[in-house]
Amino acid sequence: LAGGADAKPFAGRHLLVTSGPTHEPIDPVRYLANRSSGKQGHAIAAAAARAGARVTLVSGPVILPDPPGVTVVRVETARAMLAAVEAALPADVAVFAAAVADWRPAAETDEKIKKGTEGPPPLRLVENPDILATVAQRREGRPPLVVGFAAETASVLDHARAKIARKGCDLIVANDVSAAGGVMGGDRNTVHLIGRDGSVETWPTLDKDEVARRLVARLADLAGTPPE
Ligand code: CTP
Ligand code: CA
Repeated sequence: LAGGADAKPFAGRHLLVTSGPTHEPIDPVRYLANRSSGKQGHAIAAAAARAGARVTLVSGPVILPDPPGVTVVRVETARAMLAAVEAALPADVAVFAAAVADWRPAAETDEKIKKGTEGPPPLRLVENPDILATVAQRREGRPPLVVGFAAETASVLDHARAKIARKGCDLIVANDVSAAGGVMGGDRNTVHLIGRDGSVETWPTLDKDEVARRLVARLADLAGTPPE
């Protein structure tokens, strides 16, 4: 049966996936966000469930249906995503596919900001926690296999190599998200797998579902057979 449609290489494993954008409130009616659709992260969660894993998907706001057989935890902000991820640990494999907002407004006002006579209000930002780096650098309870994504619009491989070292993860899936490529929101993706040793494996342009299927097969290989 090995490799067939019925193969369950991830049986007995817990896989944690983040997906989608985050929304960072400015006031009760406005937020800061990005163009992530969640398609790639959701496809990974779905593929892992089909491969027999117990899957927890921590998702920012998306319009996608919940993947079958997956426990979905919905969050809005980066801080809530970090809390949900930590609550979902331990995991055997963690895949951080979410496009987390790097910054959030320093203060969220309780009332809608009104147009004043003083012109546009200043939007002061503070940095969000780095969920991937926080989990990858845990002293206790670090998942044995931690996978990050790298969303780049230029110098994809150089930036991704720097990222794997900075974050402390085991593997980076790098993709070019410049507007011309149509990756953000689109159905196809061209990815490069970057290892800790700097090795690069470039995959052909594939449907996000097929990227997910191949990635899950690779991760099941890397994770090995579960202990009894
Ligand atoms: N990530 C995260 N928490 C953040 C920012 C990013 O978990 N606050 C994760 C993403 O899910 C992804 C990886 O880190 O797996 C890289 O995200 P990316 O935006 O490409 O990198 P950054 O470190 O945020 O750097 P920059 O956006 O400046 O390229
Ligand atoms: Ca970022």
